[in-house]
Amino acid sequence: MTASGPTADLNALEQDVLASITEAGDLTALENARVAAIGKKGRISAEMQKLGAMKPEERKAFGKAVNAVKARVTKALDTRKGALEAAALAEKLATERADVSLPVRDGPETRGRIHPVSQVLDECIEIFADMGFSVAEGPDIESQDTNFTKLNMPEDHPARQDHDTFYFAPGLDGSRQLLRTHTSTVQIRTMLNNEPPLRIIAPGRVYRGDSDQTHTPMFHQIEGLVIEEKIHMGHLKWVLEEFSKAFFEVDDVEMRFRASHFPFTEPSMEVDIGAGTIGKPGDWLEVLGCGMVHPNVLKNCGLDPERYQGFAFGMGLDRITMLKYGIPDLRAFFSADLRWLRHYGFSMLNTPTLGGGLSR
Ligand code: DAH
Repeated sequence: MTASGPTADLNALEQDVLASITEAGDLTALENARVAAIGKKGRISAEMQKLGAMKPEERKAFGKAVNAVKARVTKALDTRKGALEAAALAEKLATERADVSLPVRDGPETRGRIHPVSQVLDECIEIFADMGFSVAEGPDIESQDTNFTKLNMPEDHPARQDHDTFYFAPGLDGSRQLLRTHTSTVQIRTMLNNEPPLRIIAPGRVYRGDSDQTHTPMFHQIEGLVIEEKIHMGHLKWVLEEFSKAFFEVDDVEMRFRASHFPFTEPSMEVDIGAGTIGKPGDWLEVLGCGMVHPNVLKNCGLDPERYQGFAFGMGLDRITMLKYGIPDLRAFFSADLRWLRHYGFSMLNTPTLGGGLSR
């Protein structure tokens, strides 16, 4: 049978359409080719419209042929589309490549400075997280119950006077809230709301009516609390030693534990570190208070002191910042002086890590 009549025209049409698909150099050209072939008014669609006027046998043969052409054309369109998309992606990847090893351009990222207290807080979190501590938080506005009573300082306890507390005016029920005077409040909140074992640090702002070169009415503390069944003072000493070495970035640090008194710990100690660590041999620097959590405090939080014990510590974040980075006046920390921040601040591009170094 010779190729003539409608089927022969169809062959030529198919070759033509397939050629237009092969020639399409980009996705827009390919879409134009698709519309011209199988769009509503396309050449193949026009062939299909001829079916209506045909005699039954002719329609059967021609219909089969034209549908086959449409299927092959559709497949060719898909294949070409895939190839063009892959090529477009490859080109994009080649031209839009970024060199991530280039230095950061000068701008807010390089000029901005992290406040030394934020830096030191990040350093502390990094060190304690490595020892399995998580970070707990509590509010700045507290009840007297959480700030004092539950910490074994009942209403008439003399230690309440030591804190120069900022009280709010009495509320409707007559009780007076206060600005927390220490982060030890978070010990109470943690024990009330969680089951032991507990291992937390609690950094935050605290408030006392005091102001001179080393005191400001608002300052920062970092509290630590560990509650488990078999915790003893050896654990406390080890944790503080490891912390001090890591924090001051030295292999060895001289430490002195002096007997002291806090209502919420028994026994209680104050800890000094040898000032040789910061280049002043012979002196001692007081860095924190600590002790074994008082049985009354455990009871006040619903824990059985026969079963659980633990230790707590509290230190001044601003104070250890001054020590480590040799900053003389605490008041400057909170004076929002940009020249001070440029001098003492840290680049935000160097996050403290134990592996990469805490300070640089
Ligand atoms: N809360 C104490 C203060 O502000 C510091 C402190 C001492 C916290 C001993 C403790 C601790 O957890 O065990 O002066």
